Amino acid sequence: MSVAGKARKVTTHTLLEMKRQGEPITMLTAYDFSLARIVDQSGIDVILVGDSASNVMAGNDTTVPITLDHMIYHAQCVVRAVERALIVVDMPFGSYQGNSKLALESAIRIMKESGAHAVKLEGGSEIVESIERILTAGIPVMGHLGLTPQSIYKFGTYSVRAIEDEEAKKLIEDCKLLEEAGCFSIVFEKIPAELAKQASESLNIPTIGIGAGAGVDGQVLVLHDLLGITHEFNPRFLRRYMNLYEDISSAVSSYIEDVQSGDFPNEDECY
Ligand code: KIV
Repeated sequence: MSVAGKARKVTTHTLLEMKRQGEPITMLTAYDFSLARIVDQSGIDVILVGDSASNVMAGNDTTVPITLDHMIYHAQCVVRAVERALIVVDMPFGSYQGNSKLALESAIRIMKESGAHAVKLEGGSEIVESIERILTAGIPVMGHLGLTPQSIYKFGTYSVRAIEDEEAKKLIEDCKLLEEAGCFSIVFEKIPAELAKQASESLNIPTIGIGAGAGVDGQVLVLHDLLGITHEFNPRFLRRYMNLYEDISSAVSSYIEDVQSGDFPNEDECY
């Protein structure tokens, strides 16, 4: 039986073992109880309480506005639903950059108040001190390199990162730094597939890609994108498995019609 199949609960060690055995790791986002329950019971390995909740749940243009309190609230909802998956929570913008004491306090709040299993931080050498300090408290840390949406105002666009040699070289160096610091895994977002493959092969810890090709150790997508709820977002890396925007819209239209025509409720639907 596979490593993931055997695991009653997925841990950071399960993921390391999966990489060793060449078993692909699956990860999806969730921000609420109902969807987290479905995703967990469907057998996903990792649930990311992503700060993409800022866009998907709250309707913001970027991930910058979401707060630590908001992230803890979403993580609490997910933790109540999940029995098997490893739950990783994004540390939001402003809760760890440039201040390792603040980073540790923020990570401790996430772990204590939500009951999640690990945190994720965006960045490399700039934030390695924060990562090291969080790890001193025994909190597992996932890194995130490439397109780091919390830095959108520095990048100016959401386009593919590390195309130029200099940025690709820094990414490889950052990978090593994060592994040496003690991260248990790294997310690669929107980088060339060949670079992601090369970086993954140079690391002992698993890499999880979104728009980073097939040479990584696992894949992550935003659940609402996969389900086709966020139908206006169409990056090349996204595979949609449903078109829930249209299905929900048509269900709601039918309900409106049925109420307006007097068809709902019928006799069987009354007490
Ligand atoms: O917030 C998020 O959903 C993420 C994924 C895109 C990896 O960080």
